[in-house]
Amino acid sequence: TKRYTITLLPGDGIGPEVIAVAKNVLQLAASFDGIEFGFKEMLMGGAALDLTGVPLPEETLSEARNSDAVLLGAIGGYKWDNNEKHLKPETGLLQLRAGLKVFANLRPASVLPQLVDASTLKKEVAEGVDLMVVRELTGGIYFGKPRGFGTNDSGDEIGFNTEIYAAYEIDRIAHVAFQTARKRSCRLCSVDKANVLEASMLWRKRVTAIASQYPDVELSHMYVDNAAMQLVRNPKQFDTIVTNNIFGDILSDEASMITGSIGMLPSASISDSGPGLYEPIHGSAPDIAGMDKANPLAAVLSAAMLLKYGLGEEKAAQRIELAVLDTLNRGFRTGDIYSAGNKLVGCKEMGEEVLKSVESKLAAA
Ligand code: NAD
Ligand code: IPM
Ligand code: MN
Repeated sequence: TKRYTITLLPGDGIGPEVIAVAKNVLQLAASFDGIEFGFKEMLMGGAALDLTGVPLPEETLSEARNSDAVLLGAIGGYKWDNNEKHLKPETGLLQLRAGLKVFANLRPASVLPQLVDASTLKKEVAEGVDLMVVRELTGGIYFGKPRGFGTNDSGDEIGFNTEIYAAYEIDRIAHVAFQTARKRSCRLCSVDKANVLEASMLWRKRVTAIASQYPDVELSHMYVDNAAMQLVRNPKQFDTIVTNNIFGDILSDEASMITGSIGMLPSASISDSGPGLYEPIHGSAPDIAGMDKANPLAAVLSAAMLLKYGLGEEKAAQRIELAVLDTLNRGFRTGDIYSAGNKLVGCKEMGEEVLKSVESKLAAA
């Protein structure tokens, strides 16, 4: 048997609800390949703030660093929204990403045939969409200095941030993006705002230079405002998208809606070495937290990415993906992806159905 240590960070809001499901699915799906997990649940986000006074306790980061992979639910909530910056759940998440040095965030968005009806786009626009957003995750305006609050020359209050990229940061994310595109359809679109921002001008220059090392990949460039428009006009024109931290945050939420719901989209955040961080792209959804309404599939599919990218356990990862498709084929839908004729279920029941699919797919195999 193979044994892996997984750090579980349920976090806040719907985080614990979707992580409970993802953990069970991960455990069952991998057990058939003789894989055993040691799960260590740690505090993170608002949950950590309430109990320890900080959003990312040192024990959480060191446990995460020493594990084989980290699975996170979501963090944040109204309760902590007015905290000082260093005492916000979101700051803890940024510290975790920086602490694990996970600079590359892979956010796949594909329209499953079962969910074409859940998309807000017309069927012919949505069906067949299969794209991958490669988001830079540890740089840009999220981390740039100077930042803060102050006063300007006229004595007015100001808040300021800095969008900044060093060449090495662009180069390494570009390499991840070209290699990702190479495994897909060899088309890469780099999204920036090089008509206005210096950080984007450097971004475009470096990405263009690195392209010469990947002659088999077709590179294009697009301004982010146009990209936001093109994503809803004709999303099938995109395969792999590479972009900075903040544009990637925004465009991946936009892309999620093409697929039916943000409750479907997983992500993998990886570094050059050390454990990766796997989390749904959605947040803590305080509006539905505690109501057993959350779609756990983004978290479940994040567990599949953990197996694939984090542990190299492709078979077990595929088993989870097939189980999700099977559950959808059997008509089970949480509210966010519901359409007429299907069976409306809560988070827990969706989880139980995915477990059944894992079992039955095995029986069939
Ligand atoms: P959100 O993603 O939490 O929710 C946006 C909308 O999508 C809400 O209506 C919510 O109910 C719905 N939704 C999200 N996930 C869903 C799921 N799995 N199933 C069904 N519906 C789902 O974004 P928000 O409301 O802007 O942010 C809420 C909090 O989450 C904030 O504190 C924010 O900072 C935090 N946040 C955390 C993360 C993270 O932990 N990675 C990501 C985004 C936002
Ligand atoms: C995400 C979230 C985070 C981000 C926040 C909560 C810091 O929106 O994971 O997409 O902006 O990266
Ligand atoms: Mn986001």
